Formats: sequence, C-alpha cells, structure tokens
Amino acid sequence: MVEKTVTLTDKSTGKSVELPVKDGVLGPSAVDITTLYAQTGMFTFDPGFVSTASCNSAITFIDGDEGILLYRGYPIEQLAEKASFLEVAYLLLYGDLPDQAQLDNFKGLISRHTMINETLKTFFDGFRYDAHPMAIMVGVVGSLSAFYHDSLDIHNPRHREISAHRLIAKMPTIAAACFKHNVGEPFMYPRNDLGYCGNFLHMLFATPCEDYEPDPLAEKALNLLFILHADHEQNASTSTVRLAGSSGANPFACVASGIASLWGPAHGGANEAVLAMLEEIGDVSNIDKYIAKAKDKDDAFRLMGFGHRVYKNYDPRAKIIRQVCHQVLDHLRSTSRHPMFELALRLEEIALQDEYFVERKLYPNVDFYSGIIYRALGIPTNMFTVMFAIARTAGWVSHWMEMIADPQHRISRPRQLYIGEKRRDFVPLNER
Ligand code: CMC
Repeated sequence: MVEKTVTLTDKSTGKSVELPVKDGVLGPSAVDITTLYAQTGMFTFDPGFVSTASCNSAITFIDGDEGILLYRGYPIEQLAEKASFLEVAYLLLYGDLPDQAQLDNFKGLISRHTMINETLKTFFDGFRYDAHPMAIMVGVVGSLSAFYHDSLDIHNPRHREISAHRLIAKMPTIAAACFKHNVGEPFMYPRNDLGYCGNFLHMLFATPCEDYEPDPLAEKALNLLFILHADHEQNASTSTVRLAGSSGANPFACVASGIASLWGPAHGGANEAVLAMLEEIGDVSNIDKYIAKAKDKDDAFRLMGFGHRVYKNYDPRAKIIRQVCHQVLDHLRSTSRHPMFELALRLEEIALQDEYFVERKLYPNVDFYSGIIYRALGIPTNMFTVMFAIARTAGWVSHWMEMIADPQHRISRPRQLYIGEKRRDFVPLNER
C-alpha cells in the first residue's frame, strides 16, 4: 500500500517537507506533524484545537456534519433506547457490550464501592450551606486520592480499574451529598438493591423519616440522560482529564480537574444556563428580543444550549431528549403542556428559521432540553451540571485508562506563539 503523505513547501526558501497522513477507521484523516519542528524549526498554530487531533482513541466517534454519535461503534439512538447506563459504562470502559454474567459482575463491583468513607462526610461541613454543588464536587472528588493509597499506582492495570470503578460508583453518592448539604437534610446511605439511577434518586430524595421508592419513569429518564452524557470524545473536560493524567497524576485528581472544566457555561454549565435563560425570557412574546441580543456582537448574550464545536447539524442527543421530554413531562406533571418546554420549542423553531443561526449552522445541543427534564424530576437548577458530571465520569475514566495503557503516551505539552516583550534588562524600582 502506498503511504499517503502531504508536502508542505515554504515559498520563501523553496524547502519542502513531506509529512505522513494517518487514516482513522471513520472520519477525516490527520496529517502527522510530530516531526515538523525537528524538520523545519516551526510549530503549528491552532488555538482551541479546531484542526488538531490530540490522540488516537477507539472510544467514541462523532460525525458533526451528519449528526452521528457512536460509542464503541454503537449508534447513540440504539443505546439510548435499549441499554442501561451501567451497560454503557462497561461498553466505554472495556470496548464491548457485556453479556449477562459480565454485567451482573460489573453491577456487583460498582455497588460494592457506592459508600464513601465516613470521614469524607465531614468535608461537607467546611462548605457554606449554599455552596454551589460543583464547587463541592471539585474539592471532594479530588480529595478521594487521600483515601485510596492502596490503589493509586497508575502503572498497575488492576489499580487503574479499581479507581475507575470507585469513581463511577461514588460520584452519585457525593453528588447526592452535595444536594443534601444544600437543603440541610441528612445524607442517605446508598441502597444497593436499587439500580444505579434508582439508588441516586433515593440518595437525593429519600429521608430517614419515611419509605421512598423511586418512580420507574424518573429512573428511566435519568438512565437515558446519563447514557446521552456518558462520553463525547475529546471535549474540553475529557481533554482536561487526559492532559492532567498525562503527567502521571492520579485518577481522582484528574477527574476533579475534569469537573472544574465541565463547570464552564460554554461546556456542561450550559444546562444550568439554559434554564436561567428560559426563565429570563419568560414568555414567547420576548423571544424576538432575545434572538436579537444573541445576534448582536456587542452583546455578550448567547443563546445557551445552541451551537457546538463539532455538530454543524442537529445534535443527535438533543433530538432524543426532545422526543422524550413530552413523555416525561406528561407523566411527572400530569399535564400535556409545560410552559418552559413550550417556550423552548418555540425558541428553537424561531432560531432555526433565522438566517444568523442557519448560516452558522447553530442547532440545539444536548443541554438545550436536558434541564427541562431535570427540573421536572425535581432536581434543582444548580445540580444540573453535577448530573452531567456523574454521567461523564464513565467517559473520563475510559479515556484516562485508554491513555495510560497506550505505550506511546507522553506528557501533553503544547507549544505557543510568543507575542510578549523581547529580552530587556531589569530596571531598579526607583528608576521605573
Ligand atoms: N448564540 C449566538 N451565537 C452563537 C452561538 C450561540 N449560542 N454559538 C455560536 N455562535 C456564533 C458565534 O458568535 C460565531 O459567530 P461569528 O462567526 O459571526 O463570529 C459563530 O457562531 C461560531 O461560533 P464559535 O464561538 O466560533 O464556535 P465554537 O465552536 O468556538 O463554540 C460553543 C462552540 C458551544 C462554545 C458555542 O456555540 C456556545 O457558546 N454555545 C452556547 C453554550 C452552549 O450551549 N454550550 C454547550 C455545548 S454542548 C454540551 C457540552 O459540550 O458540554
């Protein structure tokens, strides 16, 4: 087979370099520029990594133009309809769907790690009663590395696996504890007789005073949302986890850094921002005003839940959530019309006909409708990004494991185009 290459010519010197082209299984090929600096003394410049593949990965594939999302080759639509979140977490971690025995074993392993150390509970007392749960998450998840010295050797595959299981298992427990801290209720211990989502609902909404059984439809809705958020290839938080992990940092520290990155409103924080935006818009009659604000370059306002770096088509996850929104709202609110959902639908309709959004291929993303379901489930707005973090932990640990197991992985160390002062001499204080 002829090796594909591209030739780069510096017109000022006439010198050329030939660079190999790598083909993926799906998606665009990539020019391998690893020898470019050695050959030419030049870097490439790509702020925001718009054209840069930072690693090989076999976990998730996205075709942003066609609106396709595959986890380990399986279309997101099929997984959303047929799988459980733990099946999907297994798939992301190990590469294949589990058979019944493997799934039972995995569920057992995860449920064995759902409790948190009793002393970890005291960490929450250090936070103000109204601390944002994402702020608590960053601190408490990072602190897990102080508890598990027995499994922190990242060069030991078994240790890596145990850490991955611990993170997937403990995230709902820590998340629910954040909520309980905010509302001043006692923490609820996990119930391992319930499924992953049912147990999380129990830890959120049960109290020691009375029996609680999770609503099966709420459990189903949560399962769906967790599957849709489980992974999304090299997004900002996953790249953060990989970058932190590339130095050999432990997985709890890496995932804490991923949580911090996810919190931003351009990323996972958008689900919280969408609800705030819908509340601010308030009524269908105000939509035009807000569309105009979103288009105004002098106004910082953006239509939250709209647009995506990769999707230049309808986000397939948003399409699925939009479909189930009706069903969930009808069941949970016993009403076929829900003002927030109606407002979102109308906003979408108007934006999708507007030339500004059409030209820039700005479509609703996963965060546009997810908050409406979370709200209907009784989950407060400041917990929305935490929900995203629970689900994305499956993706974060899968990418971290993939990276550490890759014999070619090196510390990530981007270069820069320096635009500061040239060399200059120190000026004594009294002469400045
Ligand atoms: N409202 C108004 N204009 C927008 C929006 C928006 N939501 N998104 C992009 N644009 C415009 C942007 O101003 C730019 O216009 P121009 O070409 O005239 O300068 C053009 O569209 C391209 O946008 P960009 O900012 O260059 O695109 P990006 O790939 O750097 O940013 C994004 C992607 C998701 C950060 C951005 O679309 C955005 O801020 N969206 C709102 C926040 C949001 O919903 N984030 C959740 C993303 S999906 C879940 C996740 O990843 O966590």
